[in-house]
Amino acid sequence: MHTAVAIPGDGIGPEVIEAVYRVFEAVGAPVRFVERHAGEAALSAGESELLPESTLAAIQEYGVALKGPCTTPIGSGFRSVNVQLRQTLKLFAAVRPVRTMPGVETRFGDVDLVIVRENTEGLYSGIENTVAEDVVISMKVATRKACRRIALWAFRYATHKRREKITVFHKANIMKMTDGMFLEEARRVHEVEYPNIAYEEMIIDAAAMRLVQDPSPFDILLCENLYGDIVSDLCAGMVGGLGVTPGANFGEEHAVFEAVHGSAPDIAGQGLANPLALLMSGTMMLNHLSDTRGDEACRQAAQRIKRAYDGALGAGERTRDLGGALGTREFADAVIARAQD
Ligand code: NAI
Ligand code: MG
Repeated sequence: MHTAVAIPGDGIGPEVIEAVYRVFEAVGAPVRFVERHAGEAALSAGESELLPESTLAAIQEYGVALKGPCTTPIGSGFRSVNVQLRQTLKLFAAVRPVRTMPGVETRFGDVDLVIVRENTEGLYSGIENTVAEDVVISMKVATRKACRRIALWAFRYATHKRREKITVFHKANIMKMTDGMFLEEARRVHEVEYPNIAYEEMIIDAAAMRLVQDPSPFDILLCENLYGDIVSDLCAGMVGGLGVTPGANFGEEHAVFEAVHGSAPDIAGQGLANPLALLMSGTMMLNHLSDTRGDEACRQAAQRIKRAYDGALGAGERTRDLGGALGTREFADAVIARAQD
């Protein structure tokens, strides 16, 4: 049995994580969840912080977490839970696999991409200043250490997942120093350590056009922080949206798995949310446990879950965001029924 921290979070978070608990239990996934709070849920539970120390400590103790979305209250005094989590736990690599789902109609054929996003610097450094009256600046930060770290991570991931090509999206023609350094390190890692993985560089505006014209020549997209944020949502839109896009944030020591979507206040509490994105994030967690701890039972549980949700979608069992009529619980029931076949 592995122990993972579960953070239900806010809005639709508790509903979708409940669905994941039920599916995990139905397939006998060897994971025990311990719940901790984050987001507004933490404040409601009597904590004084959006991201309580006890939540961070539990992730540090158990190494993995499955996280629902957290609302960051608007107003000063609140830092984003996600930014805090990434910084404190040094979760430098965000990974978002994007693939066409069975039975989910889109304008694109077979999409199968992985976005690897640098999670700690770039324009998300948070360094903004007023330099003169009516003039403000935002600092784009690149360090050689972080550029090399994410490049190494992406090539290692490509090798492990038997992927063939890494394309770096950049704008080094304009941002010669920051994006230039990002490119330099990626190129060096390719040439010196991973010459067997195909490598290319593409200026991001042209790349965006080529991606929507035909995603098939692309495989892994390696991006600095802001480009990765934007490109992930673009790619999510190519396969059916936020209900079907899982994600993970990896550091050297810890990993936090979460869907790309937020707390969806417009549908929260109504039992309508699609639990699939968090369930897919959960299967990524099972595969990670299998990879890092050599537990084959985790891999098998992940495969059973994947077959079950692919089967349910293929048979037209879908939530409203995908054009179906099922609620959160009914979709989980459909997955569970197939997992037990
Ligand atoms: P959102 O992702 O919560 O919602 C955008 C739209 O997608 C809404 O119409 C929503 O109903 C729909 N949607 C999202 N997930 C869905 C699902 N699983 N099934 C069906 N429909 C779904 O983005 P929004 O409205 O911009 O943000 C709401 C709150 O979430 C904000 O407080 C924001 O800060 C937070 N947020 C948290 C994230 C996290 O914790 N990782 C990520 C993004 C936003
Ligand atoms: Mg985003």
